[in-house]
Amino acid sequence: MKQVNVGLLGLGTVGTGVVRIVEGHREDLQSQTGSPIHISKILVKDRAKTRSISVDSSKLTEDPWEIVRDPAIDVIVEVMGGVGETKQYILEALELGKHVVTANKDLMALHGQELLAKAREKGCDIYYEASVAGGIPIIRTLIEGFSSDRITKIMGIVNGTTNYILTKMSQEGAAYGDVLKEAQALGYAESDPTSDVEGLDAARKMTILSTLGFRANVALDDVDVKGISSVTQEDIQYAKQLGYEVKLLGIAERQDEYISVAVEPTLVKKSHPIASVNGVFNAVYVYGEAVGETMFYGPGAGELPTATSIVADLVAVVKNLKLGVNGKQAVTSYKEKKLKTDEQ
Ligand code: NAP
Ligand code: HSE
Repeated sequence: MKQVNVGLLGLGTVGTGVVRIVEGHREDLQSQTGSPIHISKILVKDRAKTRSISVDSSKLTEDPWEIVRDPAIDVIVEVMGGVGETKQYILEALELGKHVVTANKDLMALHGQELLAKAREKGCDIYYEASVAGGIPIIRTLIEGFSSDRITKIMGIVNGTTNYILTKMSQEGAAYGDVLKEAQALGYAESDPTSDVEGLDAARKMTILSTLGFRANVALDDVDVKGISSVTQEDIQYAKQLGYEVKLLGIAERQDEYISVAVEPTLVKKSHPIASVNGVFNAVYVYGEAVGETMFYGPGAGELPTATSIVADLVAVVKNLKLGVNGKQAVTSYKEKKLKTDEQ
């Protein structure tokens, strides 16, 4: 029944959703875990900023180390973004035996294996369900749900901002720049939306999905990336006349021991289920040799959908703490991958 103390790094779109769900679902969360979950400190850049949620101002700090090094904090929830200093906070938290939940795909795509290795060394959990496809529980599905199968293809829409933009351009004839501003105002876009529109965010997510799905070392540099900034209204309308929608797809394939991963604007036949995935929604198609075709659909970004994944991870960590086991959300060893080239 011991209270679990959480240090929340970030109170922006996702952090606000985490506070809302932890507070709004308090009793249900406690009945599942047996322990009250208490957000005891929150990191922000600017304590004086007006916020959409009321929080006890004494919990707010601008000093990350005050949270990371607080011996009373059991779990760090990282929703501040960034890879440089943020990695140091997470490494230090793990070093000190704290468990970590993160939504940070940039960090997990670039340094995931180092962080997971540190977590293993220290007997800590690191969960990152919210890093890919917002509210769709695709990471635990790949790790647990398909552990019995050999996945040969993972394909889908894994960026909500670009799908929102392409949908509005297609359905309403809206201008690219206007819809991008809307996506930013709705909290879907990254702090620098270049990573959304140039396909980098999707590439990071495909790196994570293909690493887990193929149980292989896939690096971000291995992904061929093209974004949507050069897609015009004419392209979209011509495609429609020919019976297609333009979608930014991530496509990862394995043939024998060879792997290829790419992100690019793709013509999708209107009759294909992925063509009707609209707005901020994401969809991930997974083909396994035994299971055949499967597809997972849901909101890919935004405050509450993303926070749903974070808090589900938090529940998993608290349950693990209670049982004295680790979950870690990773395969224990990865094969060296070979890239598929034109000759193969
Ligand atoms: P956001 O709205 O920009 O919020 C970032 C929060 O972190 C803010 O509260 C900010 O403080 C704080 N912060 C940032 N840098 C800081 C620093 N150096 N020191 C102290 N505080 C700092 O970002 P978000 O949209 O919630 O995204 C957070 C993370 O979740 C990112 O890794 C993102 O990729 C990931 N993610 C986002 C979504 C989504 O739909 N937005 C979905 C999945 C994953 P202030 O409030 O004082 O500015
Ligand atoms: N910027 C990201 C997107 C947030 O639009 O999909 C969710 O990862």
